Amino acid sequence: MKHLLNILDLSTEEIGELIATAEDIEAHPEKYEDACRHKILATLFFEPSTRTRLSFESAMLSLGGNVISMAGANTSSAAKGESVADTAEVVSGYADIIAMRHPKEGAPYVAAKHSSVPVINAGDGGHYHPTQTLADLLTVHREKGAFENLTVGFCGDLKYGRTVHSLIAALSRYRGVKFVLISPEELRLPEFVKRDYIEEKGIPYTESASLEEQIGKLDALYMTRVQKERFESEEEYARLKDTYILTEEKMRTAGKNTIVLHPLPRVNEISVKVDEDPRACYFKQTRNGKLMRMALILKLLKDKETAEKGGVYQVGGGGERERNTFVSTSVKCANPHCIFPCEQELPPLFYRDKRGTLCCAYCDAAAENGKETTV
Ligand code: NCD
Repeated sequence: MKHLLNILDLSTEEIGELIATAEDIEAHPEKYEDACRHKILATLFFEPSTRTRLSFESAMLSLGGNVISMAGANTSSAAKGESVADTAEVVSGYADIIAMRHPKEGAPYVAAKHSSVPVINAGDGGHYHPTQTLADLLTVHREKGAFENLTVGFCGDLKYGRTVHSLIAALSRYRGVKFVLISPEELRLPEFVKRDYIEEKGIPYTESASLEEQIGKLDALYMTRVQKERFESEEEYARLKDTYILTEEKMRTAGKNTIVLHPLPRVNEISVKVDEDPRACYFKQTRNGKLMRMALILKLLKDKETAEKGGVYQVGGGGERERNTFVSTSVKCANPHCIFPCEQELPPLFYRDKRGTLCCAYCDAAAENGKETTV
C-alpha cells in the first residue's frame, strides 16, 4: 500500500496484520525501538488536534525515528495561500512519510498525488479518519475478540463525524455485522456512507433518534461529539449539541458487555461518572491509537522499500484508490467542503460507483445532476 487515505485502502488481512504487529509492539517494545532510525515523519495539521498528532509523533519517536511538525494553518505558508499540492511536493523532500489533517475533504488525496512519500490521512473535513478507525478496531478486537456478528451503535453527529464514516466502512466487511444509527434527523449519516458501505452490502441497519430505545441492543456503542466546526449556523449547533448525553443511569440499561467507545475529545456527551464503568473503553482507544500508528508507519515504510527494490505495491482489499477515475469538465462536485475548488488547476476527477452514480474522486460526494456529457 502506498498511502492510507481511506480505511478501505487496507484489506481485512492487512488490518489483521496491523493488529498482530500492534500487539507485538506492546509485548516487546524493545524489538521496535530502532526500527525507524534515520527516518522522518512530517505531521502537517491544518486543523486542531491533540491525540492524533501527538500519538503519531510519539509513535515515530518510539520507533527510533524523528519528527518534523507543522501544527496550525496560521503558522505555515498555507496562510500565504500555498496549495496543498505544493506543500506536499515540498514536504515530501524533507520527510519519509507524511501525516496530514485538513479541513477540506479530499486534501490528503491531493497531497498523495503530489508526494513522493507515503501520505496518511489524519482526518479530512467531515469525510474520513482512517487512523482513528485503526485505534477503534484494535480496541474492539481486544474487548470482543473478533469483529464478526457485532451490533454496533453510532450515536450523535453521524453527518459530520468522519470517524463514524471510516469505522462503518471498515466494519462493513465483516460477516454478521449490524448497525444502529442514532442521531437527530439533521445529523443523519451522509448518503455516500449509507449507499456504499451499508445498503450496497445488504447490511441490516436501524435508524433511530432515541439512545434509550437502542442502548440495550448493542455490543458496542460509539458516542461522538457534535462537530461544532462544521456547522454553517451557530444556533443550529447550540440546538443540537446536547441531544445525547450518556449517563450512569443510561448505562444501567445497556448490556452487561456493551463497550462504550468515543474518539475523543468529549465535550459533554459522556458524563465523567461513566469513566469508572469497566465498559468505558475510550481512554484505552487513545493508547491503542499509538500502537496502531506505529504498526502503520512500519508497514508503509516497508511497502515503499519493497516497491523501490523492484517489488510492487500490493493493492489494498478495498481498492478504493484503484477505481477508474476520469476527467469530466461538464459536471461539478456539489459538496461545498470539497478540496477541488480551493486548489489551482486540479483535474476535475470523477468515478462511477457501483450503482452508476457519478461521484467526485476527491470527496466522494455525488456530482451535481449526476450525469456527465463529455468524458
Ligand atoms: C476526532 C476527529 O478529529 O475527527 N478526534 C480524533 O482524532 N480523535 C473526533 C472529534 O474531533 O470529534
